[in-house]
Amino acid sequence: MEQILLELAAIKEEMLTLLNEVKDENALKNFREVYLSKKSKLASLSRYFKDLNNDEKAIFGEKINQARQEIDRAYKNKHDELFFASYNKRLLKEKIDLSLPGVNYQVGRINPLRKVEDEILNIFVNMGYEVYEGPDIESDYYNFERMNIPSDHPAREMQDSFYFNPSLLLKTHTSPAQARMMDAKKGEAFKVVCPGKCYRRDDDDATHSHQFMQIEGLVVGHNISLADLKGTLETFLKAVFGEKREIRLRGSYFPFTEPSVEVDISCAHCLGKGCSLCKNSGYIEILGAGMVHPNVLMMSGYDPKEYSGFAFGVGIDRVAMLKYGISDIRDIYQNDLRLFSNFYKER
Ligand code: DAH
Repeated sequence: MEQILLELAAIKEEMLTLLNEVKDENALKNFREVYLSKKSKLASLSRYFKDLNNDEKAIFGEKINQARQEIDRAYKNKHDELFFASYNKRLLKEKIDLSLPGVNYQVGRINPLRKVEDEILNIFVNMGYEVYEGPDIESDYYNFERMNIPSDHPAREMQDSFYFNPSLLLKTHTSPAQARMMDAKKGEAFKVVCPGKCYRRDDDDATHSHQFMQIEGLVVGHNISLADLKGTLETFLKAVFGEKREIRLRGSYFPFTEPSVEVDISCAHCLGKGCSLCKNSGYIEILGAGMVHPNVLMMSGYDPKEYSGFAFGVGIDRVAMLKYGISDIRDIYQNDLRLFSNFYKER
């Protein structure tokens, strides 16, 4: 028995010494595989049990357990020591400098043109209008003829256009969407707004752009009157520019409407009294409108004796320029984020 206990003590000492000498995690792993396995020297001591009496078995069993616990504790200490040593080393290497400036990402902004378009479409959608966008490449037939602008009409010269060939061009206004909608509706009553890009052969300057945007409005039904047009435009323009603004209709001429009107809105600064901003007129021109010309209704299969309608066309760029105080239309198309984030604020 004494011999056996001496052997146990020797094995324990050997293991503790070896553990003490372990310098890295790999060595610790080797130690565990060799000295803590079921075939280790320590485990093999259980072969003596069969030669011991019961009292001796109890003492020997307890001594083995004590030794095992001591070794386990030493193993765990070594494990923690190695783990924290390498962990701390890693932390030191990963040290970050909190005073370093961050990476500055440029955040995009919504172009005022898109904001105004969304706002106007929303106003009309809330009034029950559909939204339809016509093609950018339009036929001469829809762009001019169906809008009651025959080939010899002077309006064709008024609007110098980008033609692909004699019958195809980039649309010069959103009005052809009116004829396309009427064709699609085949004699039914309807309300629609048609946003879109327009193109004209203009030299770009502060107030002209060869590309700009419009929203066309069209209502066709029974007993639609000029009063409906005025009420609708008043609701629309007050929603965009504020309740204080008044509108004014002036007689005008468009081939596709009869009668035709030009619509003005009272000046933001003097509210109609006249100031230097509105050149003392008190009003600023904002859009063109009118009652749909009987010829336009007829060409789309609507009987003008039974149906009437109103239409209007508003320049989104013009609304955006007034609303955001943009004095040069070219700024809208240059996408300079500094202008959109700092300079132009909603009025
Ligand atoms: N199409 C016209 C233009 O581009 C704008 C316009 C005026 C549209 C009167 C209309 C309207 O629907 O009734 O200048």
